[in-house]
Amino acid sequence: TRPGTMFEAIGGFDSIDRLVTAFYKRVGEHPELTPIFPDDLTETARKQRLFLTQFFGGPMIYSEERGNPMLRRRHLPFKITPTRKDAWLECMEKALVEAEIEEPYRSVIVEKLTMTANHMMNTLE
Ligand code: HEM
Repeated sequence: TRPGTMFEAIGGFDSIDRLVTAFYKRVGEHPELTPIFPDDLTETARKQRLFLTQFFGGPMIYSEERGNPMLRRRHLPFKITPTRKDAWLECMEKALVEAEIEEPYRSVIVEKLTMTANHMMNTLE
């Protein structure tokens, strides 16, 4: 693990794992989000663990498996409205608390993910 990264600061793989588990539990129960996600979120969560590990400065394991993230392009098949963007971020903010990602890291992560989530919007309500 590279020192000085967000990945290291929050506790590495174990913390990403807790965060992603807490996040998809909420996604799977959110009425705005369930229509666009698969019923079985196992594989979605696995890819998100790979992605967030690398996004937070850990090993580049998402790109080793999936190549360039091109996240906006990968999200184009799904109607991502402002309401769905807010729902995604709400699930993530609650998951950060449940996974006990402490301040100041939690707020920095929310800011970074908010920018990425804004970039994913592709459809008006
Ligand atoms: C995949 C929705 C934002 C990272 C997906 C999928 C959906 C989705 C429906 C496909 C799931 C599947 O078929 O397994 C959304 C919505 C967002 C959002 C509604 C609201 C803005 C984000 C953000 C990130 C992200 C902010 C990154 C921080 C990913 C990744 C995948 C994914 C890594 C898997 C891509 C792959 O196939 O390799 N998302 N997403 N998403 N999303 Fe999002």
